[in-house]
Amino acid sequence: MSRLLESCNFGRLRLNNRIVMAPMTRSRALDDGTPSEMMLEYYRQRASAGLIIAEGTYPSENGKGYCRTPGIVNQDQIDAWKRITDAVHDQGGTIVLQVMHVGRCSHADNKSKTAETVAPSAIAADGAVYTEAGMKPFSMPRELDVAEIKNIVHEYAQATANAYEAGFDGVELHGASGYLPAQFLSPGSNHRTDAYGGSLENRVRFFLEALEAMAAVDGAERVGLRICPGFPFNDVKDPDPEESTRGLLQGISHLPLAYLHLMRASTIDVIGLSKQYFKGPLILNGGYTQARAEKAIDKQEGDAIAFGNAFIANPDLVDRFRNDYPLAPTDESRLYTNTREGYCDYPAYVA
Ligand SMILES: Cc1cc2nc3c(=O)[nH]c(=O)nc-3n(C[C@H](O)[C@H](O)[C@H](O)COP(=O)(O)O)c2cc1C
Repeated sequence: MSRLLESCNFGRLRLNNRIVMAPMTRSRALDDGTPSEMMLEYYRQRASAGLIIAEGTYPSENGKGYCRTPGIVNQDQIDAWKRITDAVHDQGGTIVLQVMHVGRCSHADNKSKTAETVAPSAIAADGAVYTEAGMKPFSMPRELDVAEIKNIVHEYAQATANAYEAGFDGVELHGASGYLPAQFLSPGSNHRTDAYGGSLENRVRFFLEALEAMAAVDGAERVGLRICPGFPFNDVKDPDPEESTRGLLQGISHLPLAYLHLMRASTIDVIGLSKQYFKGPLILNGGYTQARAEKAIDKQEGDAIAFGNAFIANPDLVDRFRNDYPLAPTDESRLYTNTREGYCDYPAYVA
């Protein structure tokens, strides 16, 4: 049997196999951030994954960046997520929630009227974001003061507590792709001169405090971290991403996290670097095929492989791998449309 199909334990998470569904924003929540019926169907269909990492979800209204993304802030959202986690658990699956605060990577049109775009420094990200009125440049963020930073750390903890109330088995801190933790870590977006900017130790501080706050809710063994060292997505500017990652990994080494989730999207040897400092389970992601995934597990490069794109059109991906069934192609035109089509209407393979 392929080692990809073996069960394993990551911290307090039980995985039926080593095939993880990567977190994917699909913009199918209601306008107020409540998870929809479509989402319930979509996650239920994919429950045979060893672990589902549910899409980037905002911990506060300021943390929202995109159209129709879900929140984990109020009771309606918690209750709707609970129905989803129940459905996944009924199928024997395991599901964690990715907590994602976008910081400066947003446009005011995509947030509630009272929400603000905030960041370590008042430096707009270079680029544009989809809004219902078309692509618009990222909004200029307002610089956070220290009391507000502490409050966001608290929001990560509250989001974690809310996620557990909603039945999630764990949570994942989104520390990749140029969102808020990465904005603090990267010198290009962090020009602060206080305890949260300047030296590497200071740039790591927010990341560390957020992760510690999440771990304090019910133990680090239910908390995962996703990073993507050296990936310039969303205007991340860091002259030495390897050194920043080293500082981060050293800073968090005391936390027995459930897993470290590595997106491989640069020339940095992220696996080698991570293994120097992180001794827990590694989830690898980024362009893996079944063959490459099996090789990576056999060579003990990682403990599980996360698949993004492959899960979109193949809800039964685990079965397809098990039986060597062909994979269906993704309809790229419907990635973010507010429709069932191209979302929860991809069928399982019929042999
Ligand atoms: C439609 C779509 C939405 C995504 N949304 C997220 C997200 O919310 N959070 C995140 O960390 N990564 C997100 N990603 C990145 C994926 O998790 C994954 O890293 C990427 O697809 C590469 O893996 P793959 O080569 O197996 O597809 C998204 C990717 C896609 C295709």
